[in-house]
Amino acid sequence: VAGLINWETTLAIESFPLAYNPVNYAFGGVNGGASGVGYNIAKALHTLGHQVDFLSLLGEDPLGQLCSGQLAALGIPTGHILPQLPQTPQSCILYEKSGRRQIHVDLKNIQEASYPPDLAAAALQTCDLAVLCNINFSRPLLELALRLGRPIATDVHALADLDDPYNRDYMSYAQILFMSHESLPASPWDFARQVMARYAPQILVIGLGGEGALLMLKGEGEPQHFPARPVRPIVSTVGAGDALFSAFLHGHLSGQSPAEALRAATVFAGYKIGERGAAEGFLSAEGLRDWVNR
Ligand SMILES: Nc1ncnc2c1ncn2[C@@H]1O[C@H](COP(=O)(O)OP(=O)(O)OP(=O)(O)O)[C@@H](O)[C@H]1O
Ligand SMILES: [Mg+2]
Repeated sequence: VAGLINWETTLAIESFPLAYNPVNYAFGGVNGGASGVGYNIAKALHTLGHQVDFLSLLGEDPLGQLCSGQLAALGIPTGHILPQLPQTPQSCILYEKSGRRQIHVDLKNIQEASYPPDLAAAALQTCDLAVLCNINFSRPLLELALRLGRPIATDVHALADLDDPYNRDYMSYAQILFMSHESLPASPWDFARQVMARYAPQILVIGLGGEGALLMLKGEGEPQHFPARPVRPIVSTVGAGDALFSAFLHGHLSGQSPAEALRAATVFAGYKIGERGAAEGFLSAEGLRDWVNR
């Protein structure tokens, strides 16, 4: 897994829009922890029982040490986590009672930083799957992974344009491609067909939020719809997409069909959104099996 780590602060609010008042005593409503797409995926896959080599960049600041400490506490090796940025990226997540969330993210200068190619190549050499998040430092790893014959999975998140110059590389290289419906210029069904015609991933999934997800397989006809599984009360939907993606990869790596893997992934995501942080609420493989069977 190569991707972002940021320090995440979550704030519980009554509802959007947030009216002005000078001070709020939000007892228990302000919390922090390590998160970021790479962290969420690495932690979810680790929790599901996979051996994760996690490649990321942190700040040489106290927040970087906190993030690194949290990875170590989980038992995720930190040998590929390089504390070489001036500052660790941060995010601030506001979430209301319905579970709707608003993300404010400050990437600091991570988009100008690069990851040492020799270290990346060594990690890629031994992996079954390269999960390359759409952050600039993992962009050169796409070509490296291809050259080393490693399959690539990517989530490009909210995409607004089929030719999006930032995400085009990721979409061209990915065999497993995820995206969100949230900013699409067409219906997700139409857009899925367009993505397949243009980039031809083996597997395409479009997350539909509370409506579930669409699955389209190369050469196998029309997109298929999978409903959402809100298996427990929703607290915050932050990180739902990362959870869906991770659990799908878990199923795929475990030999399930794409349909089986996505069905279980909606359960994993449905369970995950019962907690407030993007990196909280991940089921183990056994816990997921139990919930799928209920
Ligand atoms: N409001 C909701 N109610 C029930 N399930 C939800 C809700 N929001 C998300 N989910 C579950 O989580 C999955 C992933 O969510 P979503 O489609 O919003 O991801 P995304 O838009 O790709 O990423 P994200 O919203 O996390 O940036 C959905 O397919 C669904 O199973
Ligand atoms: Mg979404």
